[in-house]
This record gives sequence, C-alpha cells and structure tokens, in this order.
Amino acid sequence: MEKTLVLIKPDAVRRSLIGQILHEYERNGLEVIKLNMQLPSLTIAEEHYAVHSDKPFYGTLLNYITSGQVVAVLLQGNDAVRRVRQINGATDPKQADDNTIRYLYGINKTENAVHASDSLENVEKEVAIWFG
Ligand code: CMP
Repeated sequence: MEKTLVLIKPDAVRRSLIGQILHEYERNGLEVIKLNMQLPSLTIAEEHYAVHSDKPFYGTLLNYITSGQVVAVLLQGNDAVRRVRQINGATDPKQADDNTIRYLYGINKTENAVHASDSLENVEKEVAIWFG
C-alpha cells in the first residue's frame, strides 16, 4: 500500500466539485485516509511550489493557490502515486486524456482542478506542509 497527497484546488472548490473529484479516486479503489480544508497562507504556497520558484508562472501560481479554499487529501492504495497522477491527467487540461479529472474539470494550466505528489519523497514533504 502506498500513500499520496492530492490538493483539490480553489477553482474546483469554487465550482462545488469536491464530491465529484473525491468520487473519481474512490471509484478507482483509492481510500481517503485524511483530509482538511484550508485557505493556504503565502508561506504554505511558497513551500509547496518552491521547486517552481524560478519559473515565469510562479507568481501566478502563488496568487491562484492562495485565492480560495484548498482541500488536502491523503489517499492510500496500490501504486497510489502513479495511479493518482494518471487519474488526474496532464497538467494542461487541453492535453489531458479523456475522462481524467483535468479533462473533465480543468479550465487551463493554472486552474487545473487538482495537484498530486509526483514521487514518494514529495509525498512526505507535501504531507508535512499540508497536514503539519
Ligand atoms: P501542479 O500539479 O499543482 O504543480 C505545478 C503547477 O504549475 C501545475 O500544477 C500547474 O498548475 C502549474 N503550471 C505548470 N506549467 C505551467 C505553465 N506553463 N503555465 C502556468 N502554470 C503552469
């Protein structure tokens, strides 16, 4: 069993998509083992996106992720890190495979509904950031 961290981002929370997004993971056999909802501080946003601090879209990303409530979800299941990223789909909703969460609910590369950890190492880091 593996754990991974998902964020349901402000654009999805604003559009009342929390239930539908959680259902996508649950119907694919992943178990929700912890969750919280918070308005992220700038500090949390900077820690979470530190790896992108040199990117041209960093400022946009920080403004966006601190613009509303975020649901942090700890999921558990076989091969969870890889499978959850597959269920989420590509970063750009226009490139995402049919029926992935970003295909169904993403708007653009910034407002793309969800985030998921990309490695076991980042699961640990991101759990510490979002669950303290
Ligand atoms: P996420 O999985 O949360 O991790 C990094 C985020 O950076 C990513 O989702 C996108 O929302 C955002 N991102 C990546 N590439 C771009 C881009 N070219 N323009 C704007 N945002 C981007």
